[in-house]
Amino acid sequence: MNQCFNNSHIVLDPSKLPRHVAIIMDGNGRWAKSKGLPRIYGHKKGAEVAKKIIYKTKELGIPYLTLFAFSKENWLRPEEEIKTLLELLKVYLDAEFEEMKKRGIKFKVIGDKEDFPKDLQEKLELIEKTTEKNDEMVLCMALSYGGKNEIVKATRKLAEEVKKGKISPEDIDEKLFRNFLDTKDIPDPDLLIRTSGEMRISNFLLFQLAYTEFYFTSIYWPDFDENEYLKALYSYQQRERRFGRVYES
Ligand code: IPE
Ligand code: IPE
Ligand code: MG
Repeated sequence: MNQCFNNSHIVLDPSKLPRHVAIIMDGNGRWAKSKGLPRIYGHKKGAEVAKKIIYKTKELGIPYLTLFAFSKENWLRPEEEIKTLLELLKVYLDAEFEEMKKRGIKFKVIGDKEDFPKDLQEKLELIEKTTEKNDEMVLCMALSYGGKNEIVKATRKLAEEVKKGKISPEDIDEKLFRNFLDTKDIPDPDLLIRTSGEMRISNFLLFQLAYTEFYFTSIYWPDFDENEYLKALYSYQQRERRFGRVYES
């Protein structure tokens, strides 16, 4: 085994890295509260952590990273918090656009961009378009994303195609259905990480997580550092993925 990525005592096997890591970045509010600070400070620190984890992912050679940044249900939060989250997203995008170009990162949004204010929508579209041909890594950001919503939308689009006579019902299989999801062109996640101690999916990638390995940690997202990331990847490398089959050693 080639030894590499030996930060602290964690040694990963480069031949067994996940192809796609998805992360539910949770616990910003509780992190801030634990320090006697308003929730927004947690979101600010959380955005910095996201940046570090994105670059670490690229450095490790993991080709796909999906970050759950804002859910469909997060619109139910207080208006002030939503406003600050959108502001932070804008600041992040402005600061990182050049970096994405420089580092060859392809940026992609899953979720309903049209739920956002026009200027933010345009920013997201511009970055997606400009980085479209980058091939060093795909950074997929889930924004106004809900798994049930994605499946229902896909079904509606599919039904329209059937109605127009372009697809017949017997042609519908898993492969075809995938083409109607926001994540078309992206392989299913191999590893899902959720921080903050919650052990639920919270409507994230319901279709795509069918055979994903789950890693839960009680660490709040703003405290999730490169070493915690390596721990999650190490845990992944110890798993035996069977996909329903029987493996004999
Ligand atoms: C995750 O942290 C960030 C978003 C959902 C936008 P939270 O804001 O959910 O923080 P907690 O879970 O309340 O601590
Ligand atoms: C999930 O976290 C969404 C994001 C991390 C963006 P939430 O904090 O919204 O999830 P619940 O409400 O605890 O399930
Ligand atoms: Mg939360």
